Amino acid sequence: MPQKKSKDSNRLKFIDLFAGIGGFRLALEMFGEECVFSSDFNKNSQIVYRDNFKETPKGDITKIKAKEIPPHDVLCAGFPCQPFSVSGNQKGFDDLNNGNLFLNIERIAKHHKPKVIFLENVGHLERHNDGNTLETIKRNLSNMGYNFFYEVLNSSDYGVPQHRKRIYMVAFRKDLGVSSFKFPEPTMKEVKLKDFLEPNSKAKNQIIDETLPKAVKIEGGWKVVNKKTGKTLRKFLWKDKKGRRVNAKKKAEDVVKKGMLHPIDIHDRENVQSRAIKTIRVGTIGKGGQGERIYSVNGHSATLTASTGGVASKTQAYLVKGKVRKLTPLECKRLMGFPDNFKMDVIDGTAYTLLGNSVVIPVLKLIYREIKQSIYKNGKN
Ligand SMILES: C[S@@+](CC[C@H](N)C(=O)[O-])C[C@H]1O[C@@H](n2cnc3c(N)ncnc32)[C@H](O)[C@@H]1O
Repeated sequence: MPQKKSKDSNRLKFIDLFAGIGGFRLALEMFGEECVFSSDFNKNSQIVYRDNFKETPKGDITKIKAKEIPPHDVLCAGFPCQPFSVSGNQKGFDDLNNGNLFLNIERIAKHHKPKVIFLENVGHLERHNDGNTLETIKRNLSNMGYNFFYEVLNSSDYGVPQHRKRIYMVAFRKDLGVSSFKFPEPTMKEVKLKDFLEPNSKAKNQIIDETLPKAVKIEGGWKVVNKKTGKTLRKFLWKDKKGRRVNAKKKAEDVVKKGMLHPIDIHDRENVQSRAIKTIRVGTIGKGGQGERIYSVNGHSATLTASTGGVASKTQAYLVKGKVRKLTPLECKRLMGFPDNFKMDVIDGTAYTLLGNSVVIPVLKLIYREIKQSIYKNGKN
């Protein structure tokens, strides 16, 4: 990735913990900051990170001693959110495998005493465990000598057409004298998902009604085929009285009854044209569960996720020029604020996961601009 060369003597050193594909790094390098250490143990994240930043992140942070990490001014971490998210198990700090990863941030910060700690997590962290989880983070950082600030921001309010509420936490070392901090005001710029999309011709694999199973009448019964390829889907074969397979009988019967497995229902054609800086739900696939909701491209996308299922898993579905489809990995990149030339040489499913786990670059940039102004305003750095 091109790095801004800063002539600025204010150039700060930062570390990129739980680095993923490097969202924090991308944002801070745009200010000319220098990354001196990165860590992420996921092989696919490491590949993407290396391809873009020419550095492979170190592995498991729990096994890295604080003294092995170079001194730095800013500690960045979008630490794993599963223990805190609504869809996760909500164990928080009781989850020794994940929640306690925060203790590694503390351990490293205690040793290096960076000027600033800059964290991101799911919006639900604010209310997790009746607010006790956030209170614990605040108390621990305060005991370590930091002033702590946080806010839940929705990227929809900052010129990015994706509904994504995330908690951003910023802690300043007390000797910097930053006793108040203002998160950036919403820009409320009216942007629409449709301006971030590729033509449908580039999204053939994402068009849902062409990839769904459909029932075909054959002599003596029905078979279920892939609508696009016409191939028989063995998982939907079921046994009849003569003893043929019973696999997925109910689903298969559904296919026969409804013509296809997940009937698409666009219930709100009126709203398809309306204008808004939020999501506009216009339809449903099947029962309308996770990955089965259809939105208008005149509004914003739903939150991109790393793990939700359904036929439109990880992106949800959109009515794009008459076709119901998922988003492409390139579109997801744009909705997270990554440049089109950001390299992601991984299969689509992995790209969705990595992007769904990442951070929205334009929001990070706006916050980081405030951080820099705050630390230099006081002249005590
Ligand atoms: C929510 S994602 C952060 C994504 C990142 N902010 C980005 O821009 O892509 C959390 C990351 O923590 C990593 N992780 C989880 N446990 C880890 C550990 N013990 N050591 C290093 N990385 C870990 C995961 O592989 C995942 O990439």
